[in-house]
Parts: sequence; structure tokens; C-alpha cells
Amino acid sequence: MTQDNPKQQQKISRLLDWLKSLLGFTEIDMGLSTFDDSAGKQLTIIYGTQTGNAQSVAEMVAEQAKAIGLDTSLRDMETVDISLFKEIEHLLVVTSTFDDGGMPENAEALWESICDPSAPMLNGLKYAVLGLGDSTYLNFCMAAKEWDARLETLGCVSITDRVDCDVDYEAPSTVWAHTVLSSIAKDYGLQDNLSNLANLDAQNMQPHLPYNHTHKNPFNAKMLTKKMLTAVSSSKQIMHYELDISELAVLTGSNADMPLYAEGDAIHIIPKNNSKLVKEVLNYFEANKANQENATLVHQLTNDLEIRTPSKELIKLVAEKGGDDELNRLLANNDPGALDDFLWGKDSLGLIKTYADKKIALNEFIRVCQPLVARAYSISSSPHKHPNQVHMTVRSVRYNSAQKEHSGVASTYLADMVNEGDTIQCYFTSNASFKIPQDGSLPIIMVGPGTGIAPFRSFLEAREMTGATGDNWLFFGDRNAVTDFIYREEIEAMQAKGLLTKLSLAFSRDQAKKTYVQDRMKEEGVELFAWLERGGYFYICGDAYRMAKDVDKALHEIIAEHGNMSDLDAMMYVNKLQKQKRYVKDVY
Ligand SMILES: Cc1cc2nc3c(=O)[nH]c(=O)nc-3n(C[C@H](O)[C@H](O)[C@H](O)COP(=O)(O)OP(=O)(O)OC[C@H]3O[C@@H](n4cnc5c(N)ncnc54)[C@H](O)[C@@H]3O)c2cc1C
Ligand SMILES: NC(=O)c1ccc[n+]([C@@H]2O[C@H](COP(=O)([O-])OP(=O)(O)OC[C@H]3O[C@@H](n4cnc5c(N)ncnc54)[C@H](OP(=O)(O)O)[C@@H]3O)[C@@H](O)[C@H]2O)c1
Ligand SMILES: Cc1cc2nc3c(=O)[nH]c(=O)nc-3n(C[C@H](O)[C@H](O)[C@H](O)COP(=O)(O)O)c2cc1C
Repeated sequence: MTQDNPKQQQKISRLLDWLKSLLGFTEIDMGLSTFDDSAGKQLTIIYGTQTGNAQSVAEMVAEQAKAIGLDTSLRDMETVDISLFKEIEHLLVVTSTFDDGGMPENAEALWESICDPSAPMLNGLKYAVLGLGDSTYLNFCMAAKEWDARLETLGCVSITDRVDCDVDYEAPSTVWAHTVLSSIAKDYGLQDNLSNLANLDAQNMQPHLPYNHTHKNPFNAKMLTKKMLTAVSSSKQIMHYELDISELAVLTGSNADMPLYAEGDAIHIIPKNNSKLVKEVLNYFEANKANQENATLVHQLTNDLEIRTPSKELIKLVAEKGGDDELNRLLANNDPGALDDFLWGKDSLGLIKTYADKKIALNEFIRVCQPLVARAYSISSSPHKHPNQVHMTVRSVRYNSAQKEHSGVASTYLADMVNEGDTIQCYFTSNASFKIPQDGSLPIIMVGPGTGIAPFRSFLEAREMTGATGDNWLFFGDRNAVTDFIYREEIEAMQAKGLLTKLSLAFSRDQAKKTYVQDRMKEEGVELFAWLERGGYFYICGDAYRMAKDVDKALHEIIAEHGNMSDLDAMMYVNKLQKQKRYVKDVY
């Protein structure tokens, strides 16, 4: 079933009309054929991607480039050597940003070599950069910004300004492609072919995935089981969900040899906003009337718009209309960290009420809301063990701020609004690096406190089902053992069977001094280093902002201490693990 976002469709259709009018013609019927005279009219497009969006955009640009007669080469950054840049005239960089402002994994090696002081000057190379990101992250489109700055430093000449796309990336990337290709077409005298550009169809820009279900074309899954993993008395709630995907398995003809997903992949849940929040919005804007128009509005607020987390545009609008000094100063200072701190815990309505009460109309609010996007969850089941199911391990985001109870959209949609037997909309994405070693005899070390345990449950199930002989070591923890030791029975059974060779637990709040997984790693440093030396794989999953950084630091320290290495050598050891994909993260 196709679930197109009407707002987005309208936007794209308006954009296509605009492109057509700009190009001065009304009809389009050209195919995307490669021109015979393209030799020497060269364009190289490289993409950095984690989950496929940048690849889809790059493929769309490449199709268009071919359509105007350019000899186009499209390359995954992972396959690009820096020496290529000396041989080309026009370079387009399309990249997403990951991991707190970092490069996507397939871009890391190339990025490292282009940042190396020995990197060659690339005087005169014409380039343009397109960034894909999400403005709710502090370091919005940072990878694209860094590429842009670095290429400029190396003497490259910008074809057009960088565009940083937010979650709604189709329309701005289409405009960027048109601008860039128009300019290159002029360089090569191919202006006459530009009319072919209007043949583009942003609707066809589907994320490049091994699956054909996407945000716009999700599949329906039935909620089979939902149960609370944490105790009722816990200070947090972590839920276990089991989804039935047997219909999808039949449709796609998947089986044990060709499963629907792989261990390490994520499932994305398309949520709905809570009716309480929708009512609150309607009441605030005095739009709570019972008529047809209102029903459409309720549908839009429930399904299409991110009405909880303020968008950048809303923050600007509130600052502009409300005139609050502090907010305006924060925006003017352009310090995303300080702005983020200021916004922490504030939802859209709270922000409006506090800083621009009754100064913003409902239509203005709707105009600046971002589209409601899916949330990712690391799959916690192995398809080898549960061929027709997907399991998730989800912490319900609930907190109190400014005397109000707040609920995360997707996690509480699952916890509070979806019942067993209900159908929800989802799609998968693959995480190419976060995979169990093909050689089942190699040891694996998994560090996953809290919900970070999710993919490791799937790894362990897979190691069991495939009869992998390698050792398995799990570092797990949470606040208190009595209330938060999730999957305890399963884990203890795996231990009893010998599947889980080692289990290291760190319950942070069970003693006066906080104890974390990295403390356990350090206590076991000698053995941990020995596992790495045996060809072991090291995985981290869970909190990106604090835990993953501290675990990374501990890993460096352990390698330096027990490998008798300098800090620099330990860093090189870790880099090598990363290059071999033996040190990988799934953090959020
Ligand atoms: C690849 C990937 C895998 C993931 N896997 C999992 C998983 O296995 N399990 C899991 O539970 N999550 C996982 N997540 C996180 C998940 O995608 C969602 O981000 C999470 O569930 C919150 O979404 P939400 O819609 O419920 O909350 P949202 O409506 O998106 O709200 C979250 C926001 O609320 C605010 N907030 C949260 N807590 C507080 C607080 N205490 N005080 C003030 N403000 C606060 C913050 O601004 C935060 O960004 C994963 C994320 C990624 C990217
Ligand atoms: N931004 C925030 O303030 C915040 C807060 C919580 C969760 N989250 C998000 O929630 C998700 C995961 O939540 P979760 O409930 O599964 O787990 P979690 O909040 O990450 O907690 C799991 C365990 O990790 C511990 N922990 C805290 N800081 C750590 C550190 N620096 N190093 C190692 N361990 C540390 C926690 O201890 P203590 O809690 O006792 O310190 C707890 O025992 C992530 O997306 C995370 O980013 C964000
Ligand atoms: C774990 C995670 C971290 C992210 N970090 C950032 C970030 O720091 N800055 C940003 O602008 N976008 C960030 N994003 C958003 C992605 O860049 C965005 O979803 C993009 O469309 C992904 O493109 P890709 O599929 O080509 O990798 C992050 C997304 C995820 C899932």
C-alpha cells in the first residue's frame, strides 16, 4: 500500500511546475538516454550514506546528468581513492551526517585521506556539495559542511552554494541538482539538453535499500505481543514488542535462506501523534470545532506533522513574533549547543505559550511544522529464530518538564496507543557494517546497556541458530538489577547453555558509586584485549552522547595498557579495527 504524504506531493508537483516554467516549455517526453557525444563532458558524483538516502539522491542526479549528455560516473565513497580527484574536472558530493556530526561510515576512509596534510591541492576542480541531515541534531549536515570547507581549502572552485537538506530532502535536492547541472551544462555547451531535466520525478527517489518498503511505501505489521520488560516499580519503562510480518514474508517470497531482514538492521515505525496532544493544539488555537474541515485538520495533526518537537522555523517564528530577548540573542549568537540547552524539555506548544503567547496563528504553526517522521528501532530478534516476526526493545520516553508530563511520539504511540492485534506501519533499513562476522568461529564482544541490548539479543539468537562456535561476551547494565535487568531469564539461559561465554553486568544505581559497563571492561581489560587479539569483533549499541563516547575511551585505554602501546599506537590499533569493520557502533 502506498502512503504518500499529500503535503510533500503537492510541494514536489509545484516544484516540477516551477522547473518546467523556468526551462520555458510545457511538455516533457524525453527518455533518460545517454547522449552519444558525451565523451569528455565528464562529471563524477560521489556519495556518503549510512541508510541509503544520499545514494538515492546521487542516483537521481546521475540519471539527470546522463539525460543532459554528461559522461557520468557515480561512486560510493568507500570505493573512491583520493587520486581520482586529480583526474576529474567536475565533482559532486552528496553526503548525509551521522554519529553526532560525523561522516557516514562508507565515507570515513576517503574523508581521512582528504583531510591528511599530504592530500594534494586540487586547484580548479569544480565542485558542489549537497548535505542530507536532520535539523533536530545539533550538528546539522556537518559532514556536508566539512566537505565544502575542505574542498575550498584545497583550491577547488564552487559551482553553486551548498544546500543542507532536512528530513524533507526530495524537493531541495531536486532544486540543487537542477542548479548544478545547469551550470555544468553551460560549461560544456549542453544548454539545449537542459529541457530533459524536467523529466525528473522526485517521487521516484526511493531510498536504496535491499527492501522495497520505505516511509512512503511502508508495510503493515500486526502487533502480536507487547510486554513490559522493566518492573512496574522501575524508574523507567522498557517494552518488548513482537510484530507479525508473515504476510510480508508470503508477499516477498522470503524464507530462511533469504530472510526479510538481517541481524543488526533497524525497523522504522511510522507513528501517530497522541490524541491528547492533538486536542491540546486544537484547544490552544481555538480550533476545536466539530465539522468536516476540522476532521481533515485532526487527521493532518495526527498523522502528518511533527507537532511535539519544535522545528527550527517554529523557533525563529516564536523569536520573531514574541520578541523574547534571550531567545533572540541565542539565535543571533548562532551557538547550536546553547540553543539546544535552552530548548531541552520544551515542546512546540510550551515554547509558543511561554515566548509568543497568542501571537501565532494555527496556519502559521502548521506551515512551520516538520513532517512527522518514522523512528528507528534496532531489531532485537533474529530471523533465523523468528522467521515471521520482528521484535523491538523500546524505552518509553516520558519525562516531566515545566510542570507538564511529556511523552515521546513513537515510543508512547507503541506503548499507549497500539494494542495487540492492531496493525502498524513500518519499513526496514539495513546497517551494512553492524553485522555478525561471517566466520562464526570468531569471538564477539557486545556492549549494550539499557535498550542497547536490542541487536545483541538478535546476534545471540543468530549465533545459536547457525551453530556458530565463536565465544560471545555481553556487557549489559541499567539502573537497578531488581527492576531493570531486562531479558534476565533469557540471558541466564544463554549463559547456562554456554552460548553466552561471558556476561559482565553493571547496574549503575545499585551502589553508592555509579558503576558503568566501561568500568567492567576495564576490570576485565586483560581478557578483553586477548579477545581482540584473537580476531574478536567489538560492538557498541545504545546512548550515543555519553555511553558510547566513554566506552570508546575505555577501549583505547585498555588497548594501550594491555597491549603495551602508546596512546597513538592504541589509536591506530582502534582505527584498524574500524577499517576492518571489527569495531562498529549502532548508537543513537
Ligand atoms: C538506528 C537507531 C536505532 C534505535 N534503536 C532504538 C532501540 O532499540 N530502542 C529504543 O528505545 N530506541 C531506539 N532508538 C531511538 C528511537 O529511534 C527514538 O529516538 C526514541 O524512541 C524516541 O522517540 P520518540 O518519538 O518516542 O520521542 P520524540 O518525540 O522523538 O522525543 C524525543 C525527544 O524528547 C526530548 N527528551 C527525551 N527525554 C527527555 C528528558 N528526560 N528531558 C527533557 N527532554 C527529553 C529530547 O529532545 C528527545 O530528542 C534508535 C534510534 C536510532 C537512530
Ligand atoms: N539526553 C539525555 O539526557 C538522555 C537520558 C537518558 C536516555 N537518553 C537516550 O535514551 C536512549 C537509551 O536509553 P536507555 O534507557 O536504554 O539507556 P540509558 O539511559 O542509556 O541508561 C542505561 C544505563 O547506562 C548508564 N549510563 C549513563 N551514563 C553512562 C555513561 N556515560 N557510560 C556508560 N553508561 C552510562 C545509565 O546509568 P545512570 O542512568 O544511572 O547514570 C544506565 O545504567 C538513548 O537514545 C539515549 O540517548 C538520553
Ligand atoms: C543515529 C543517527 C545520527 C544522525 N546524526 C545526524 C547529525 O549529527 N546531523 C544531521 O544533520 N543529521 C543526522 N542524522 C540524520 C541523517 O543524516 C538523515 O536521516 C539522512 O537523511 C540519512 O541519509 P543516509 O540514508 O544517506 O545516511 C542522523 C541520523 C541517525 C539515524
